[in-house]
Amino acid sequence: MAKFPVEPFRIKVVEPIRQTTRAEREEILRQAGYNLFAVQAEDVYIDLLTDSGTSAMSDSQWAGMMVGDESYAGCRNFFNLEEAIQSITGFRYFVPTHQGRAAENVLFTCTVEPGQSVPSNMHFDTTQANVIARGGEPVNLLAEEGLDPTSHAPFKGDLDIDKLEAFIQQVGPENVPLGMLTVTNNSGGGQPVSMANIRATGEVLHRYGIPFFLDACRFAENAYFIKLRDPAYADTPVLDIAREMFSYADGCTMSAKKDALVNIGGFLAMNDEALYQRACQQLILREGFPTYGGLAGRDLEAVARGLWEGLDEQYLAYRIGHTRYLGDRLVEEDIPILEPPGGHAVYLDAKRLLPHIPQSQLPGQALTCELYLEGGIRGVEIGSVMFAREDPETGEMVYPSLELVRLAIPRRVYTQAHLDSVVEACRRLYGGREQIRGMRYTYAPPLLRHFTAQFEPL
Ligand SMILES: Cc1ncc(COP(=O)(O)O)c(C=O)c1O
Repeated sequence: MAKFPVEPFRIKVVEPIRQTTRAEREEILRQAGYNLFAVQAEDVYIDLLTDSGTSAMSDSQWAGMMVGDESYAGCRNFFNLEEAIQSITGFRYFVPTHQGRAAENVLFTCTVEPGQSVPSNMHFDTTQANVIARGGEPVNLLAEEGLDPTSHAPFKGDLDIDKLEAFIQQVGPENVPLGMLTVTNNSGGGQPVSMANIRATGEVLHRYGIPFFLDACRFAENAYFIKLRDPAYADTPVLDIAREMFSYADGCTMSAKKDALVNIGGFLAMNDEALYQRACQQLILREGFPTYGGLAGRDLEAVARGLWEGLDEQYLAYRIGHTRYLGDRLVEEDIPILEPPGGHAVYLDAKRLLPHIPQSQLPGQALTCELYLEGGIRGVEIGSVMFAREDPETGEMVYPSLELVRLAIPRRVYTQAHLDSVVEACRRLYGGREQIRGMRYTYAPPLLRHFTAQFEPL
């Protein structure tokens, strides 16, 4: 039987949650157009929609909120955050943003021209959308094993280095304004990227004079996986691993709502002074003055403290073990998941769970709805609804190779009993899986479709 890790904290504040009946959930889901994003949080029992911004902050972070300096310019919390970012990442400059996608928006506005391409192991949906919004082309070059949900390779977030080099030669380096790596790879199962791959990606990009940015939302979880899975780093402190990861890059985008354990916040960091100056202009236009950038002083303080807490090794052992527990329990019940479990989430493999539903009938979305009906549990589809795109030349739909339902685990929020009830709901659902039907759109917006699309069961 899978073992639950010991929590390195105790609980000081609680938030009541309520269970609903299946009949109530059927009506709620119908009214929400079968899109879990449209369901009110109070109607969800266990909310695994995202690990983003859903962390329980520590007493130190809450105390930090009380020393927020709300001056428009030069507030003290900015300098505390600067110290944390410079010490951990080594990047010389940064601008705070209200969340990760705002950092992406500023970065791509400063760098991407229409027709240019941005390669990555795998872009997250907001990253993909922000590249497209600049007229650019997001390109995913994940190595082969990352696309195999049954492979137990240790670093399934790695980018295919040969493909990267071939791609740059094919389009010409002048058409690649930057390259990226998402650590860990959220859209590909929360899988880590190896240190060797981060180093090699940097080397290839730099050989062609192309800047290299990390999408660093889950840098601490990635660093901890390197410690666990690469014997060369078994005795290296996670902080040093993180510093080495950043040392190969020229900058990063960061949604602090993940590994900085806050409910809002992000930043864009870089070494290039000219880029920093352009970023400041865009920041002032879109977010705010460079020493607050769309956040209150108190939020900056919570990020500064959270960045250090997210690197605590006892916390990371609990965090990665907590996610692993859910994955291992599901595997014990023979429920197909993407293996091994990621850092922040377990991904149900909808293709193997519902083989009778073709991708055109949205098996991931059907599974997401069924999980809510079964246990009041909210996950998110990461499959055709999120990523299928029309081929601009043929007009045909191109479906993603992975069809997943992500159960993302908020940090420091749910207990073993909560996770056991998720397993129980999955077990019941799996027993009746042949009865689950596909879905079709009744409304599908052109960009970031999954947030607002509406559906009906077939
Ligand atoms: C890998 C990755 N990049 C970027 C983002 C965007 O961050 P935010 O939601 O703070 O805008 C996310 C959010 O989930 C993410 O997982």
